[in-house]
Amino acid sequence: MWGIIGTWAMAEEGIKKAGHFLSNHGSAMDACEVCVREVEKNPAFTSVGYGGLPNEKGRVSLDAAAMDGNTLQIGSVMGVEDFKHPSAIAKDLLNYRFNNVLVGKGAKIHGLKMNLKEENLLTEASKEAWLNHVHAVEQGLSPYDGHDTVCTVAVDVNQAMAAMTSTSGLFFKAEGRVGDAPLPGSGFYVDSEIGGAAATGLGEDIMKGILSYEIVRLMSDGLNPQDACERAVTNLHEKLTRKNKKAGDLSVIAMNHKVEFGAATNIDTFPFVVATDQHLMRGKAHFRASKHSQEIVCTKLL
Ligand code: GLY
Repeated sequence: MWGIIGTWAMAEEGIKKAGHFLSNHGSAMDACEVCVREVEKNPAFTSVGYGGLPNEKGRVSLDAAAMDGNTLQIGSVMGVEDFKHPSAIAKDLLNYRFNNVLVGKGAKIHGLKMNLKEENLLTEASKEAWLNHVHAVEQGLSPYDGHDTVCTVAVDVNQAMAAMTSTSGLFFKAEGRVGDAPLPGSGFYVDSEIGGAAATGLGEDIMKGILSYEIVRLMSDGLNPQDACERAVTNLHEKLTRKNKKAGDLSVIAMNHKVEFGAATNIDTFPFVVATDQHLMRGKAHFRASKHSQEIVCTKLL
């Protein structure tokens, strides 16, 4: 038995490759990386890696994390620049007893020690989007937009689980701003004895509910991944709405150690992709705001 789930349609090619890798007895951790690298290297995906939309200073600043569900070991980088694959640094940090979370310059030094190639990540398209955005903000529009993290949770044939995230974060974010994606518990969490979860959306609000850990906790209480996702998102959405009169975007995926999966959202439509030894599927989670209910629609590709 094996499986992998990823956020957004952008994960589809990566999930297919990672599924093939898992079917050949690849590890859950490596499978997560196979998927995430596919997204990071593609400049068409402007919220992750190469071509990611820049911060307010026009610099592409990336957050990424990896977690090993067997050991609970975590590797995380925040605000790293000039490397296409921040996930590679996060994954390498899993190998150490200390210094598992590195920011900015420290993450960069670690990437250089790994002999990763420094590259300009700002494409012409993302530079143009940034210039247009500067203009729009000058006209009084809201500065913040776009925060779609690629997240994966995987189970391999040895029942090991892993999770990984990678993002350029909020478009036009302040220099030094960090979202949920590299924060354990908020952006991701996985325990091979239970399952894993990961989140995408507005980091500032995802953090308020430690959303990924909450889903894993609910699964450890006996909820299946779908019910755990729905309950965690609904509870946080309602609490934020009650306390602050608004909730930012919250979308989540989860998979348990039995390769059951789930997804939930508080936006109209949240696409995700799943590959298991049984099927390859595109899924969509829908939030029915009037009923405060979730609907999941899955289309089998294989
Ligand atoms: N969810 C990604 C971020 O807020 O940066």
